[in-house]
Amino acid sequence: MDDAALRPRTLDAYVGQAALKEKFRVYLEAAKRRADVLDHVLLHGPPGLGKTTLAHIVAEELGVGIRITSGPAIEKPGDLAAILTNAVQERDVVFIDEIHRLGRAAEEHLYPAMEDFAIDLVLGQGPSARTLRLDLPPFTLIGATTRPGLITGPLRSRFGILEHLEYYRDEELAEGVTRDAGLLGLQLAPDAALEIGRRSRGTMRIAKRLLRRVRDYAEVAGEATIDLPRTREALDELGIDVAGLDARDRTLLRHLVEGFAGGPVGVGTLATAVGEDRATLEEVYEPFLIQRGLLHRTARGRVATAAAYRHLGLAPPPEAEGLFDGG
Ligand code: ADE
Repeated sequence: MDDAALRPRTLDAYVGQAALKEKFRVYLEAAKRRADVLDHVLLHGPPGLGKTTLAHIVAEELGVGIRITSGPAIEKPGDLAAILTNAVQERDVVFIDEIHRLGRAAEEHLYPAMEDFAIDLVLGQGPSARTLRLDLPPFTLIGATTRPGLITGPLRSRFGILEHLEYYRDEELAEGVTRDAGLLGLQLAPDAALEIGRRSRGTMRIAKRLLRRVRDYAEVAGEATIDLPRTREALDELGIDVAGLDARDRTLLRHLVEGFAGGPVGVGTLATAVGEDRATLEEVYEPFLIQRGLLHRTARGRVATAAAYRHLGLAPPPEAEGLFDGG
């Protein structure tokens, strides 16, 4: 069974994000009662929290189709026109992942598409160029981004619904993997599910991935039930520690602490030191480390907290003690 088959299809089956789900229940119900198109939605939050899944659920709950594309796939206005004019039916959802990476010209063509459900095609070049306005069926754009700060003002202002997805609590992640285990016909002990939850960086996608890896270990060991000892052993072997940090998280903290004396160090310098590109560092690694109180972003650069030193088994220097360490 692949990931798509495991995806929840209704809001009820979507685990966690309680506040967000409540709001969507109202938005969806109101749109359905008015028999109107749902307002455009911007979903923002760290990767792997289920933004794409939620877009599918919205379409499913509205009983409409969904078209899926991404910002990097839409470079030119023609790319956008191709998507919006190709088989989009009235009230369908058009999902644009990584919408902050939309090409600038394409973005400008998106404005009338969102506002007036029309797209202006430019025919020809130079003095003889003409524009042709094509009407589109009313549709709902759902944009997803890990970098809301990079969304321009004019684009942001055209969304009626702006929502943030939060990191999941350990118990919610446990609920998510328990649901998947059931669908996969696996026996997963409750304490094993919670252990997976604890080590999944607050991220549903990671929890689901770890469940599959732990299942491999249990299968090879010939065990029918995935229990806590097997889960711990598998996760340890995968290099995922008790706080959910993987080898790359620890490498990052170690560089910060040992290579840069705990900081402050510029994000570009740190990225080069650990061999990651800056965007990955900022979008994937840092939000989790910040949320867990292991790293601080300051005006002068990145700083390791006392908790980071302790996590690495080191004594924090006095200047790190002053930093909030989340616990
Ligand atoms: N898959 C992705 N996000 C999910 C969620 N919140 N609940 C269940 N399955 C998911």
